Amino acid sequence: MTIRLVDLTGQDSRIWLEPALDIYVTAMNYPRGTEIHRAALWRDHITRPRWRAVGAVATMPAAEITSPQMARRRLARPVAVSDDELLVGIAYGYQGARDQWWNQQLRIGLRQAGHSDPAVDAITRDYFELTELHVHPTAQGRGLGQWLLGRLLAGRPEGQVLLSTPEAPAEDNRAWSLYRRMGFVDILRHFTFTGDPRPFAFLGRPLPLGPDDPARAR
Ligand SMILES: CC(C)(COP(=O)(O)OP(=O)(O)OC[C@H]1O[C@@H](n2cnc3c(N)ncnc32)[C@H](O)[C@@H]1OP(=O)(O)O)[C@@H](O)C(=O)NCCC(=O)NCCS
Repeated sequence: MTIRLVDLTGQDSRIWLEPALDIYVTAMNYPRGTEIHRAALWRDHITRPRWRAVGAVATMPAAEITSPQMARRRLARPVAVSDDELLVGIAYGYQGARDQWWNQQLRIGLRQAGHSDPAVDAITRDYFELTELHVHPTAQGRGLGQWLLGRLLAGRPEGQVLLSTPEAPAEDNRAWSLYRRMGFVDILRHFTFTGDPRPFAFLGRPLPLGPDDPARAR
């Protein structure tokens, strides 16, 4: 399987959005149907300042696209350059801002954790929000997540990147090991977003990536 990364545009979202949501639901093990609610939110994100998305695209001979599940991730042109390409990974984010719900939740959490207002402002003033990063389970364990993230963060103008991820016992999953390997540190732990009982961690790291940064390695 040959894999390449491609910058995804908002204009082409009618081609890549459904395959990307399919990867999201499968990778996160969410119930089928979750993608219907998420589609509107992801479309709204596309309109946010400095939104950027990167996809991982695998070449797969048509004869090997054997199941309806695989066919759901098939890409049309012009995102695909041939008739036998599937989306296998997606990463996107945008510039954080005070009027965004996620930013407001983070500021609430930081205040609850005892940070002063100036400290909260300093953390939340200038950042790129890594909103989504998912690799289809059949393509995990080949460094694709790291490759996607390195490409997404390259050349960003913000001073840091922030993300939220579900807490995991002993940080023992691929997302945690990727983020730690890429230099992410704790910003806030065990936070519960309004409307979601699961505890989440906020992690962050400075930008830009350095020349020898692990995030650049592939
Ligand atoms: C988190 C996630 C995006 C990481 O993507 P990934 O492609 O599986 O992981 P990485 O890019 O970190 O790949 C690392 C693995 O590839 C292997 N690998 C192979 N070649 C590699 C290379 N050139 N560079 C780096 N790693 C390489 C590593 O040995 C490592 O294997 P291991 O996990 O078995 O130890 C993916 O696992 C996923 O979608 N998980 C479910 C959804 C999720 O949790 N998303 C994040 C929510 S915040």
